[in-house]
Amino acid sequence: MLLNKFIRKWLLFILGMMIISLVMSCNNEQHNHPELNTGKDLYNYHCASCHKKNGSGMFLKGIPANITTNKNQTEIILHIKNGVQSKQSQMPVFSDMPDGEAYKIANHLLKLKSDYMNNPENRDKVLLERKK
Ligand code: HEC
Repeated sequence: MLLNKFIRKWLLFILGMMIISLVMSCNNEQHNHPELNTGKDLYNYHCASCHKKNGSGMFLKGIPANITTNKNQTEIILHIKNGVQSKQSQMPVFSDMPDGEAYKIANHLLKLKSDYMNNPENRDKVLLERKK
């Protein structure tokens, strides 16, 4: 009987830990990753699950493209760390992200955008879509 109680406590503890780690991994809101250094690595780790590695987003899932963003560097950093005011946003707030990391990610995002915009074929498509 005593052993039973002991095991049950442990099972509860392990279950609790599993739930906590599951919740934490959902946002990828973990910044203990010394192996990730470049903006690209950090973007792929924290953002690409939704916005895709190429920054195209997923239209059908309501995830906007990052390569056509009108936000500047500061606005992107604020969006990452503070989120938006509306509670409807499906994007997690990365409030624990170090500033340097958000800065690198914003720069990578803007590089994806400029690569995209500087490709004439893509740029024409974007301009057409904006006119609609
Ligand atoms: C769970 C999915 C998800 C993840 C992860 C995610 N986003 Fe988002 N993101 C969204 C959604 C949904 C929106 C649209 C709603 C909004 O603006 O908050 C959005 C909006 C944005 C916008 C504003 C779009 C615009 O140009 O007006 C930017 C910039 C952005 N995300 C950058 C990032 C960056 C950088 C990361 C990684 C640090 C990231 N997102 C991680 C889902 C996600």
